Amino acid sequence: MHELPDQADAHLVAQYEAYPYPKRDPRDEGKRLILGSPGHLREIDHWVFGAHRPRSQPLRALIAGGGTGDATIMLAQQLASANRPGRVTWLDRSEAAHGIVRGRAAARRLTNVDFQLVSLLDLPGSGLGPFDYIDCCGVLHHLPDPAEGLRALVSVLAPGGGLGIMVYAPHGRTGVYMLQDALRLLAPVEEAPPARLDVARRVMRHLPETAWLRANRYFSDHIDGGDAGLYDLLLNPRDRAFDIPRLFALLDSAGLTPTCLLEPLRYDPATWLPDPRLRARAAALPPMQRAALAEALTGNMSVHVVYCTRTAEVPPPPDALAPDAVPLAREMPAAELAKHIQPDLTLPFLFDGLRAPLPLPRLAAPILRLIDGARSVAEIGAELAKRGIDQEAFARDWRGTWEMLSGVNRILLLPPA
Ligand SMILES: C[S@@+](CC[C@H](N)C(=O)[O-])C[C@H]1O[C@@H](n2cnc3c(N)ncnc32)[C@H](O)[C@@H]1O
Repeated sequence: MHELPDQADAHLVAQYEAYPYPKRDPRDEGKRLILGSPGHLREIDHWVFGAHRPRSQPLRALIAGGGTGDATIMLAQQLASANRPGRVTWLDRSEAAHGIVRGRAAARRLTNVDFQLVSLLDLPGSGLGPFDYIDCCGVLHHLPDPAEGLRALVSVLAPGGGLGIMVYAPHGRTGVYMLQDALRLLAPVEEAPPARLDVARRVMRHLPETAWLRANRYFSDHIDGGDAGLYDLLLNPRDRAFDIPRLFALLDSAGLTPTCLLEPLRYDPATWLPDPRLRARAAALPPMQRAALAEALTGNMSVHVVYCTRTAEVPPPPDALAPDAVPLAREMPAAELAKHIQPDLTLPFLFDGLRAPLPLPRLAAPILRLIDGARSVAEIGAELAKRGIDQEAFARDWRGTWEMLSGVNRILLLPPA
């Protein structure tokens, strides 16, 4: 068993026993499936494996710091619904969360989930794994040493596998850390979690008008998350935010390279720089600096979701221009997406309050209406050819449609059977 390295970590254990995160009730499983990133099967297929890994190959997934089970249940259900082989291992050290995720899996009669009530720091040499996909959402930034945590995960990553990680980002959390400072004084971390929560609720009731969290209009975790959410946001014994340079340095320290930051267009400064001279300057920067520029410019990112692989094993990017490529919608059906295209051929998109009208080519709507996760690019082209659309125009407009809609994680590629 790994020694608890410090007091903050002992308080973190107490927090997630008192307030397993996020608050979930197994009885709700009959009503809805919670979807998110990272850990969505279509994203893993596309962004981790470049849509090259056959669907028939069993997927061994680890959800490290899985909490009450959102990613575990989503991925296990998606595998089961698609009749795909693989198992999902939930791992966490919260007994309270363990009870809830087991209840959720049982409510769905999922038989492809395993449970490990251990610390992720104990993974090296544990005999667990190897795993083709490792998910770690909202966990590394709470650890005493995030780089040690990430190395522990990589120690059980199978050759050719990849990770999906979420860490907090600083600018979109403006106001959070000031209130954490205030609450450390008003509700010392040594006090019992319910007493601390009561103090936080009282503080929120009379938050001074100038408190930055009040001005932070697009950040609502403290409003939506109930007790577990408020505690996690304002009373967490340790959380640190990673800006892009820090995130890349963290990944690099574990020998990892990003294959995708979600959503890619959000991290492309060109999306936010209409001025051609500025675009040219931004385009000349290396990839990490381009993403850092987008982060600093937009100022509203509160998390980073990144998929990554070992630096020596980055797969070739998904090839959407190949005739046998099969595009599919992540969730909202492509035909439905087409309905949102405006008369000026833009698709309105919102990134945490930041509007981005995505320019689409003329044939985007007819192409989207033919995307059903079964037709290949060649078949879509052939269908449009019957309607008198020439192949050159189709190829050009498919490329333009793809660049925009994969850039917002809406249209991805289906891997081979
Ligand atoms: C903010 S919650 C995130 C839960 C889940 N991943 C999600 O995004 O909904 C953080 C989780 O990490 C777990 N955790 C923290 N340190 C851990 C460790 N060393 N090993 C395993 N789990 C840990 C906590 O118990 C808690 O359930």
